[in-house]
Amino acid sequence: MIWEEHASLAPYNTFGIDAKAERLVHLETEACVADYRIHPKGYAQQTLLISGGSNMLLCADVPGTTARIAWTGQHIVRETDDHVFVQVAAGENWHDTVRYTVEQDWGGLQNLSLIPGLVGAAPVQNIGAYGVELADSFDSLRFFSWETGEIQTLSHAECAFGYRDSIFKGPLKDKGVILSVIFRLTKHSHVLKTSYGAIQDELAARGQEASVRSISDAVIAIRQSKLPDPKVLGNSGSFFKNPALPAEVVAALAKSNPTLPQYPQGDGSVKVAAGWLIEQAGWKGKRIGQVGMHAHQALVLVNYGGATGPELWAHAQRVQDSVKEQFGIHLEPEVNLIG
Ligand code: EPU
Repeated sequence: MIWEEHASLAPYNTFGIDAKAERLVHLETEACVADYRIHPKGYAQQTLLISGGSNMLLCADVPGTTARIAWTGQHIVRETDDHVFVQVAAGENWHDTVRYTVEQDWGGLQNLSLIPGLVGAAPVQNIGAYGVELADSFDSLRFFSWETGEIQTLSHAECAFGYRDSIFKGPLKDKGVILSVIFRLTKHSHVLKTSYGAIQDELAARGQEASVRSISDAVIAIRQSKLPDPKVLGNSGSFFKNPALPAEVVAALAKSNPTLPQYPQGDGSVKVAAGWLIEQAGWKGKRIGQVGMHAHQALVLVNYGGATGPELWAHAQRVQDSVKEQFGIHLEPEVNLIG
């Protein structure tokens, strides 16, 4: 365990916000977690547990202890004729993990290429993109309980995955930490999801057949063309969720807005594209001071340099208010607000 006092969290959040942690501890091995749990300045004083920092907006300095997930490693736990089960540590970079699986021609994660963040945070959000979610290739995970210090294995069903949702945002929120995730990947009979229009267009433009690798490459190209690279421009991907609304509300809205993108959910609700609503409300590419909604994807809140958490949040609220006023729809942040 490496301890720092009054450390800047700028390197550890993708908005690049320079909030300070009163105390920052780097947990570099799984074994550190058990030590940290009983350390007097450890879990007892914990205010924040930080993973890739790709889904949080730091609105203030963080008192007490901030712990950073930094343990890494991966190995095959078992194989069948058609599947391989790979265990990956929480601190591994998500995209590096996807590319490792793509290079082996193991199918499952290719549509989730280039999502920022670390592996341990992926189940919390049930990250998703281009018609695929983490839950589709998830086997189980190991969870360390702060209360008991014990490690539990949680199955797919026990994780209660939903749209950008899981048990770790509900009953198990703040109750422990995900140590590692086991993925169930296909070795031969790949199910390739290319129904998302942009993937088909990209493959056609490249003259390529769908494969684990070509889909990953296509997704990387699409994301790079639309989404700003956090290393260049601070951001946290989609800032808001796509709102799910009753079908009759969406039908009424679509009468006056025929181009509204709609995604029926099968449970009677219809998701609408928050990025479209924000663009219609006039915020796409509009910059106020050091903050704004991205010019190529209006759902992405951007720090053009040196913006504070409260400045970014104030902008998000302006956008929220104006979409509410124009469409009567409340946009809920996908990103976690801290402080
Ligand atoms: N749209 C606009 N204007 C915009 C942005 C989008 O009109 O500025 C329209 C698009 O034309 C399209 C629709 O909205 O018809 C959907 O846009 P897009 O395909 O870009 O996807 P999204 O719904 O905005 C979601 C995820 C992304 C994920 C993409 C691709 C959420 C909140 N976001 O975005 O995830 O990459 O689909 O699957 O579900 C993230 O969570 O950080 C993230 C980037």
